[in-house]
Amino acid sequence: MNIAVVGCGYVGLVSGTCLAALGHQVVGIDVDQARVQSLQAGKVPIYEPGLSEMILQQTAAHRLSFTTDMATAVQNSQVIFVAVGTPPAPEGGYNLTMLFDAVEQIIKAANEPKTIVIKSTVPPGTGEKVAAQAATAPHRLEVVNNPEFLREGTAIHDFMNPDRIVFGAGTAEGIGALREIYQPLIDRGFNILSMSRASAELSKFGANAMLAMRISFINEISRLASAVGADIESVRMGIGSDPRIGPAFLKAGIGYGGSCFPKDVAALVHQMQTLKIEPHLLSGIEQANRHQREHFVQGILRVLEGRKDPQIALWGLAFKPDTDDIRESPAIEIARMLAAAGCIVRAFDPEAMANTRRLLGDTIIYAPDVPQATAGADAVVLATDWSVFITQNWPTIKAMMRGVHVFDGRNCLASGKVSAAGLHYYAVGRTPVPPGSTRHGSVGVVVAG
Ligand code: UGA
Repeated sequence: MNIAVVGCGYVGLVSGTCLAALGHQVVGIDVDQARVQSLQAGKVPIYEPGLSEMILQQTAAHRLSFTTDMATAVQNSQVIFVAVGTPPAPEGGYNLTMLFDAVEQIIKAANEPKTIVIKSTVPPGTGEKVAAQAATAPHRLEVVNNPEFLREGTAIHDFMNPDRIVFGAGTAEGIGALREIYQPLIDRGFNILSMSRASAELSKFGANAMLAMRISFINEISRLASAVGADIESVRMGIGSDPRIGPAFLKAGIGYGGSCFPKDVAALVHQMQTLKIEPHLLSGIEQANRHQREHFVQGILRVLEGRKDPQIALWGLAFKPDTDDIRESPAIEIARMLAAAGCIVRAFDPEAMANTRRLLGDTIIYAPDVPQATAGADAVVLATDWSVFITQNWPTIKAMMRGVHVFDGRNCLASGKVSAAGLHYYAVGRTPVPPGSTRHGSVGVVVAG
């Protein structure tokens, strides 16, 4: 099928490339000429494992191309996916201008009946507004919501192996077009869930809010674990071994970040308040998330109290590993808070250095690798669980440092290895481990620590 994808950002690029890999003829459209030119030259503007290679393969196979010419691309396509940005609006909720503008341009360009697929994350009710907008077109335009559930860092795998493919359609024709597109995945046994537009939209928001809630829940419990001498990693297994609960997204740490959870939780709260529904539970999720990183930083400052010009080696800046994305990253907030408290912050991240430099300028120091971030540090602060940090040799790290403190904001390091090197190990919701000691009382299946 001939498909156009409006918006060559994260979701648009991954979805378009994967749709091409499923055998469709895909053209990616973007208003940003520089972005389109760089994609045409085979340069991918974001870091996502495997994406560059896949784009090169699909363009070489002539199944994927990029353009700024929206009208021609729309005319040549039966289905148009809209994957434009939906940034937060200053008054709360989402700014949907780019979405409605894109639909307006599709209406103008469409020369025959077509299907519009809303891929961008949108608040419940948006699909109906787009359908009303599309009803003004001279040709019939079906509007279908097809929310995306992929995660950054594993985006290609997630797209190709979906837990569910959600169709939110007003009509059978809309569903038919999507079925045809996803047939290769349907044939491999992946589930289609067909529902109303609003249900599809709320499923997406609800899933993200649920996952964010689990993280805030375990983080809040981690505070209590610290206070009563329990170990949150053991508690996580104790809770998550119940098949009704499961262990996923119950990892305590410095809280969630990224372009989705913070924005989606805030937008849900805003929409509920607008509709005069009190978001008792939802409004606490973000608050707990913010507290978690503040609490973590306070712990670091307490340990380093009295040290003149404390030097911090900040390991990690991205909001999670395997991405260069620093949007709403807890690591960035931690860098800001430590610098504001008078610490000299020397940071290293395998992929997120350029983005961070653009955001934080010279408020922190940028190190080209782990050793140069760590040399002379009073404390190592791990803020993103990249595997390069987890596999460090701790005696070597200790020899580089001036101080003896390691703060693990992701509960991902082996405390025994850190402490055996003569370092103090501090994690989230776990008892600190002094040099030369081991942790007692963890359950056997717990991997970290
Ligand atoms: C999230 C959802 O997981 C995807 O299903 C969804 O499609 C996507 O948002 C979206 O709406 O586009 P993503 O933002 O890429 O995906 O990242 P996640 O892997 O969900 O992680 C989010 C944050 O939670 C990260 O900062 C991560 O470090 C943190 N996290 C995750 C925890 O603190 N603890 C956990 O147990 C899990």
